[in-house]
Amino acid sequence: MSEHVSVERRGAIQIIRMNRPEKKNAITRAMYAAMAKALAESDADKTIRCRVLFGVPGAFSSGNDLADFLAVATGGEDGREVYDFLMALARSEKPIVSGVDGLAVGIGTTIHLHCDLTFATPEASFRTPFVDLGLVPEAGSSLLAPAIMGRQQAFALLAMGEAFPAERAKAAGLIYEVVEVSKLEETVLAAAEAIAAKPPEALRIARKLMRAPRDAIVARIEEEGVHFRQRLTSEEAKAAFMAFMNRKKG
Ligand code: COA
Repeated sequence: MSEHVSVERRGAIQIIRMNRPEKKNAITRAMYAAMAKALAESDADKTIRCRVLFGVPGAFSSGNDLADFLAVATGGEDGREVYDFLMALARSEKPIVSGVDGLAVGIGTTIHLHCDLTFATPEASFRTPFVDLGLVPEAGSSLLAPAIMGRQQAFALLAMGEAFPAERAKAAGLIYEVVEVSKLEETVLAAAEAIAAKPPEALRIARKLMRAPRDAIVARIEEEGVHFRQRLTSEEAKAAFMAFMNRKKG
């Protein structure tokens, strides 16, 4: 479905990798669609007990592809794939473990608010420049981040666009653990194996009890989406996207 997402099976674990290094893993509509499909399939497959999400070395993700944002802003594209992916995250039934090296921007950060364990290398840095782009927080982050990090840390992340390097992200409760880059993959997979070895039904219920009510997350994603789509076509946002597209010219 997308040449930039690979989905692999290792025992009871599904491994989803974003692989668009030339664009620092900026996520295209096709990539969202491929990841939404993978999550839906693994939720439905009884033999899969845990999912793992990776980027590439140096770039977990630079966030939504800004050319796609511009297409929505100027061309009336509807961004359905993003919505489907966010719903797949919000409604996911099985644990997700993520491993982050380098950049984690925008959705590359907010995705981890839906993950159950996130490991990051010392070089990882989390940042959401939504407001600077004329946008608003998405992916339910306006609900989840204050609950997870406290409102002021969430404000620094989501509204101020401050960078959260790995140690700060850990101190704020955004991620679980900082691990050396050479150990990232094995640590993430070992955590996924440990999760996969748990009694699945007990784990499913325990996980569900610990998460914000699904309906509240879905409702917040939809509420954010209304504002986000309006903001995408705002002059503030269009100017920010154009500035990014043109920044290397001249
Ligand atoms: N959408 C589309 N393309 C992107 C992108 C994005 N979100 N992020 C990076 N790219 C592209 C760049 O345009 C560049 O492409 P080019 O080589 O064809 O010019 C390539 O990826 C490498 O990026 P570059 O900016 O040269 O790397 P860098 O290390 O100097 O900076 C970032 C990396 C991520 C800090 C910078 O690219 C950036 O700020 N990107 C935008 C992030 C963003 O705002 N995301 C949306 C959040 S809501």
